Amino acid sequence: MPSSLSSPVLYRAVFSTVFKRMDPEAAHHAVVTGLQIASAAGAGRLLERKTRPQESLRTEVLGRSWPSPFGLAAGFDKGAVAVLPLGALGFGHVEIGTVTAHAQPGNPKPRLFRLVADEALINRMGFNNDGAEAVRARLVRIRRRIERLRDSGRHAPVLGVNIGKTKTTPLEEATEDYLMSTRALAPVADYLVVNVSSPNTPGLRQLQDIESLRPLLAAVRAQADESAEHHVPLLVKIAPDLADEDVDAVADLVAELGLDGIIATNTTISRKGLVTSAEAVESKGAGGLSGPVLADRSKEILVRLRERLPGSAAIISVGGAVSAQDVAERLDLGADLVQGYSAFIYQGPFWARRINAGLARIRRGTRRG
Ligand code: FNR
Repeated sequence: MPSSLSSPVLYRAVFSTVFKRMDPEAAHHAVVTGLQIASAAGAGRLLERKTRPQESLRTEVLGRSWPSPFGLAAGFDKGAVAVLPLGALGFGHVEIGTVTAHAQPGNPKPRLFRLVADEALINRMGFNNDGAEAVRARLVRIRRRIERLRDSGRHAPVLGVNIGKTKTTPLEEATEDYLMSTRALAPVADYLVVNVSSPNTPGLRQLQDIESLRPLLAAVRAQADESAEHHVPLLVKIAPDLADEDVDAVADLVAELGLDGIIATNTTISRKGLVTSAEAVESKGAGGLSGPVLADRSKEILVRLRERLPGSAAIISVGGAVSAQDVAERLDLGADLVQGYSAFIYQGPFWARRINAGLARIRRGTRRG
């Protein structure tokens, strides 16, 4: 691949002449379709040669080997339609979802907005997805291909599956809804995430209250291992809007239940810290805000969790990471793995490749120094 194709300058030009003018959700679909076409045309192998994470980045976490500590956060590939092409761009893991027990259309469009001056996004997608059974069928095929790639020594991403509650399921019946998804998806997941932190499903974040969370997580954990017939690492994904005491309470619950870890954080309902005018921000309406504006709170929560959690529990840090330095900083602060989403939109398809290359350089420098 000519290096110009992976240049951030070229992508910025394409972004400002093409993507910026398109509706963000339409641009997203165009990118996913492009990835699928490139993959079907056999570009995966070519890409992989250029984008495969450096061997020095290999990381042992949650009882398995990850090609890189950096991965793609949930929400980009909700339906598992581009897992392998995304892996071929250099992500060490791809977390698909959020998937709900029943298929649902999500909120009315438009529901995804860019705040370009902040390199941020606001979304109120509302878990648009094809439902657990349809996604399971796709993942069965993807798993077979991942195993073949791993067996032949080629790069394959670790596959995370993020589950949430169907909108029409009443909160009191949330556990059974999560269990339906767990039965379908735990057997095909490398790790499973209970998402109780999206701001776009009414009432969902109430499930972060410890008295609701305890029975939910205990039930999903038991079901996941039973359905998969082996231990499936289970993590819970939390919101940056939790008060510090509530973050501590979730950490204590994870320790009490012996859960495998926490993903921190999801998007925020706050609109603080933006350079985009308040009027422009308000015009987008409700939704979760993501991007660099999230970084400080995400790091605060990471540090808090690392102090409070037993060493055996993994932390996946997400929220506002843009550069290799950002990822290195999260790892230094105690994250086991790091994810990102929003910067992928602004930095372009070779973002993960640049993060991996930068991280490998930082580590070489540290070792020498
Ligand atoms: C998300 N995110 C998200 N998270 C999740 O657990 N389930 C989901 O379905 C989605 N959907 C989703 C859609 C869109 C358009 C965005 C921008 C984000 C949240 C995402 O995984 C991540 O936690 C936040 O975006 C913060 O990371 P960044 O974007 O600041 O790197």
